[in-house]
Amino acid sequence: MHLNRRKFLMLGGTFTGAVLLSQCASDSKTRSTISQSSRPQLVSNSKDVSEYIGTKKLTSKNGQLDVTLDARYGEVNLIDRQARLFNYNGLVPGPRLEVQPGDRVRLQFINNLPEATNLHYHGLHIPPTGNADNIFLNIAPGEKFTYEFTIPQDHRAGTFWYHPHLHGSTARQLFRGLAGTIVVRGELDEIPEVKSAHEEFLVIKDFSIDDDGEIVTPSNHMVQMAGREGSLLTVNGKSNPTFAIPSGGLLRWRIAIANASPSRFYRLSLENHPFYLIATDGGSLSEPVEMSQILLTPGERVDVLIRGDREPGRYRLFNLPYDRGSMGMMGDGGMMGRGRGMMGRWRNRNNNSDSTEVLATLSYDGKTQTQSLPQKLIPVETLPEPQTTKRFSMNHSMSPGRGMVFLINGNAFDPQRTDTQAQLNTVEDWEITNTGMFDHPFHLHTNYFQIISRNGQPETLNAWKDTVLVPIGETVRIRIPFRDFTGKTVYHCHILDHEDLGMMGVVEISG
Ligand code: C2O
Ligand code: CU
Ligand code: CU
Repeated sequence: MHLNRRKFLMLGGTFTGAVLLSQCASDSKTRSTISQSSRPQLVSNSKDVSEYIGTKKLTSKNGQLDVTLDARYGEVNLIDRQARLFNYNGLVPGPRLEVQPGDRVRLQFINNLPEATNLHYHGLHIPPTGNADNIFLNIAPGEKFTYEFTIPQDHRAGTFWYHPHLHGSTARQLFRGLAGTIVVRGELDEIPEVKSAHEEFLVIKDFSIDDDGEIVTPSNHMVQMAGREGSLLTVNGKSNPTFAIPSGGLLRWRIAIANASPSRFYRLSLENHPFYLIATDGGSLSEPVEMSQILLTPGERVDVLIRGDREPGRYRLFNLPYDRGSMGMMGDGGMMGRGRGMMGRWRNRNNNSDSTEVLATLSYDGKTQTQSLPQKLIPVETLPEPQTTKRFSMNHSMSPGRGMVFLINGNAFDPQRTDTQAQLNTVEDWEITNTGMFDHPFHLHTNYFQIISRNGQPETLNAWKDTVLVPIGETVRIRIPFRDFTGKTVYHCHILDHEDLGMMGVVEISG
C-alpha cells in the first residue's frame, strides 16, 4: 500500500493527481472542479487511486473523532474507471472511521445528494435516539446535521459500518454506493498474536453499472423479489485485488466484510486455506474457530486470521454459489443486462449467484515470518435465562396496488406503531420463524444478541451478533440483553429491499 501511495503522490500535477486530491478533500469546492466535460480518460495508473481509496481512514485523537461526511452524487473511481455513484467524501467505500471505547464522536453530516437521506451506525451500541443512531431522522437535500454520541467505555472492539437508513430509500442508496466501515479498537486488537498479524479490510460490494458509468436500475421484479443484486463484485472498489502474506505469517482479514451489498449473499472460501474466525458482528469470540467456508449475509461482518503455512503461491478467495430462495433466482442475473448488451465494459461474468466467482487473491510475498495463532481471545459471557420469550414470523404477500409487501407478524413497517416493548436491563428470547419463500437475514439495532438455537438444535458457537440468517422454513432463537439505552429502535430484514418494502418493526425500550 505504501509503495503505491508514494508512487501515486509523485504524479502530482497530472490530471489523475487532481482527481485524487479532490477525492480526499471533504471540501466541496475542490470536488466541484471535476466536471462532466473534464472527465478523465482511463489512465494506466488509476489502480493506485483505488488502492488509496480502499484504505482511507479517519482516526480519533485525544478521545474525540471530529469528522465531516459529505454525501453526494458524483464521479468516483471504481475498478479503474470513473463511475457516477452516491458517495461519502468522494469515496466508495466511504472513509473508515476508527474510534476507541470512551471516545466522543462528532460527525458533521452534509446531504449534498439530490434526495433525502440519513445515517445509521450498524452494530454500534449507542443511543437510538436524538442525534445519535436515530434512523427516524430525515435529512433533506442540502441540509446539514450534526451527529453526536459517545462510544461506551465498555464497548467491545469490532468491525461495524455506517449506511443510509431512510425507509423506502435504503436499498437504492446503498446500491448506489453509500456505505463505509467503523472500527472500534480495543482488547481484541491487543492480543499479541492478533496484534502481530498484518491487518487488511475487505469491503465487499456489488454494483450494476452501464457504459456511461451510471448505476443501472434493476427491474421491479428483481427489487420486489430477491432484492437488487449487481453483476459487478468489488472488494474495496476493486476487482480481484491481491493481498500479500508472508510464509509462516498471519494475515488478519476484517472481511470487515462490512458486507455492504444490499441483497447479495456471499459464501466465502479461500483456496487451500481455512479461515480462523476470531470475531463476528459484535466482536471477539472466546477462541479462534477454524472454518472452511463462511456464509456472509447482508449486514454481517467477520474477522478472520489466515495462516501462511501452505506452498508459496497465489490462492483465490472464492464466492461460492448460494441459493437463497426459489423465487429469488427468477429475479436474478438474467434481468440485469445479460443479452441486452448494455453492460458493455462494466460487465462481469458473475451475473448469477449460482456461479463461483473470484473476489480477491492471496499471494505469498516471498518474505518469511514466524507467527502463531492465538489460543484464547476475549471471553463471551453466558447470558442469564430470559424473562420473556417472544415470537416473530417473517413472510410476504401481494398487496393490491402496491405489489409485494414484506411483513413481520403480518405487519408492514409503520414508524408510528410500536410493535413490541422491552424493559431496560432485562433479557428476552426472540424466536424468529421464516414462513416465506426467501431467506431473510434478521437484524436488530442498538443491542447485540446471542444465537441460542436453530430449529431447536442448540447453537454451539457462543458469539455476539447483530444479524442472523433465518433460512426459508427455519426458526432461530436469539437471546437479547437490553442494556444502557432507552427509546425506540428497530429490527428488520437486512435484504434492504425487503426492509424498504415493509419488513421492519419498532421495539420500544423503556427504563
Ligand atoms: Cu445495517 Cu438497520 O441496518
Ligand atoms: Cu443496523
Ligand atoms: Cu428478507
